[in-house]
Amino acid sequence: MPPLQEQKSGVLSEEPSLDPQRLPRHIAVIMDGNGRWAQERHLPRLAGHRAGVESVREAVRTCARLGIPVLTLYAFSTENWKRPPEEIQELMRLLGYVLDREVEELHANGVRLKTIGRIAELPEFVQTKLRAAAERLKDNSALLLNLALNYGGRQEILDAVCAARDAGLETLDEAALSRHLYTAGLPDPDLLIRTSGEMRLSNFLLWQIAYAELYVTPVHWPDFRRKDLLEAIAQYQRRCRRFGGV
Ligand code: FPP
Repeated sequence: MPPLQEQKSGVLSEEPSLDPQRLPRHIAVIMDGNGRWAQERHLPRLAGHRAGVESVREAVRTCARLGIPVLTLYAFSTENWKRPPEEIQELMRLLGYVLDREVEELHANGVRLKTIGRIAELPEFVQTKLRAAAERLKDNSALLLNLALNYGGRQEILDAVCAARDAGLETLDEAALSRHLYTAGLPDPDLLIRTSGEMRLSNFLLWQIAYAELYVTPVHWPDFRRKDLLEAIAQYQRRCRRFGGV
């Protein structure tokens, strides 16, 4: 595998409109539209989730090659438990399968793995595979792949407040609360991408996206490929970020 600098210039020379100095430090993605993608093709919903795995692969590879430090993917929300049990079971199986199959490819791409969410409530076999993959990838540093699993933004804030209380903190400020979030130590997302067109946040990273640039595309997640990600980043770079200033 070529050194990261070469990889970076490789991707960036294919996409000359991107400014290497102004890449987002953290991209967060609401991967939506797997079901609609499948429905449009008269396929079962699971076919959409399976097809979405290829988009995950491409997003990870592209972020690693560009030198983007953090990619957070919303893979399963606390609300997703309302889905039919067969779909939940298949999503968990798919996640386990992907973790088994992709760990060496992730390693080759220099990817480290982290999870956010109430992981202890996931099926035991998923937790075991997540721990094994995180252990295998723990020394990598090109990209942090952060999987949001059984994740809810409000729950995260509640958990942070409880953790701060349990740590004996009597007063809280923004920095102290941030230190107790699941994302402690990570930069806040600069860019939040949502596929499949819905204009909502769906309880995702509510605290952390306070100043994120939002990018919503009608493209369904299984069709969201490298060029779509590069376009989202190019659009992010055209935005003027003022953080409340002038
Ligand atoms: C949203 O589409 C997608 C999900 C809830 C699951 C995302 C899972 C994957 C892409 C597969 C595995 C993931 C990883 C990280 C390996 P939807 O079902 O809500 O689509 P719809 O709104 O069109 O019904």
